[in-house]
Amino acid sequence: MQAQRDWEHGFSLVFSQLSGLTGGAESTKRTLSQMRGMFRDAEAVSAILRGGDPLIYEFYELGAPETPGDLAFGTSICYPGKVGDEYFMTKGHFHTLLDCAEVYHTLSGQGLLLMENPEGDVQSQVLRPGAAVYVPPRYAHRSVNTGTTPLVTFFVFRADAGHDYATIEPKGFRKLALERDGQLVLRDNPLWA
Ligand code: NI
Repeated sequence: MQAQRDWEHGFSLVFSQLSGLTGGAESTKRTLSQMRGMFRDAEAVSAILRGGDPLIYEFYELGAPETPGDLAFGTSICYPGKVGDEYFMTKGHFHTLLDCAEVYHTLSGQGLLLMENPEGDVQSQVLRPGAAVYVPPRYAHRSVNTGTTPLVTFFVFRADAGHDYATIEPKGFRKLALERDGQLVLRDNPLWA
């Protein structure tokens, strides 16, 4: 249940830089079992799930009215960790209205924003505290936590843009964010070969 807000009047909210929390809001949570097919190492997924079902990420939405003139905003928190050698990440999505852009401003943590368009152009931008990343229209986007603390980002986009997760789900993004000798590397996703 989201806290009710009056979107016809101005309001002010304080987001926690470290946790993304806003007073009274409930987050939407994504655990590993809800993302089974999204990490490439199925054995590593199963091994982790035998010991529990870790929270991979969560996000706070504020229930903005889905009208063209409104802006939806909130925070996303991707936790540190890996599945095999693949960093914890969000599911990622296109906007249902493909032409709608988005901004991600990092409040804390370290990571990467992976982006790709339907034609296969791939881009990435580093997420670091203070940096605002512009996701252009038509680009799917996914946050990857490459650090050791929660990656907390503030996002804002056109409120009626919608989320299309289904296009990403069968094959994932074209690039995988992996750790090699303690460093982030991007590798081609074999499902796109
Ligand atoms: Ni988005």
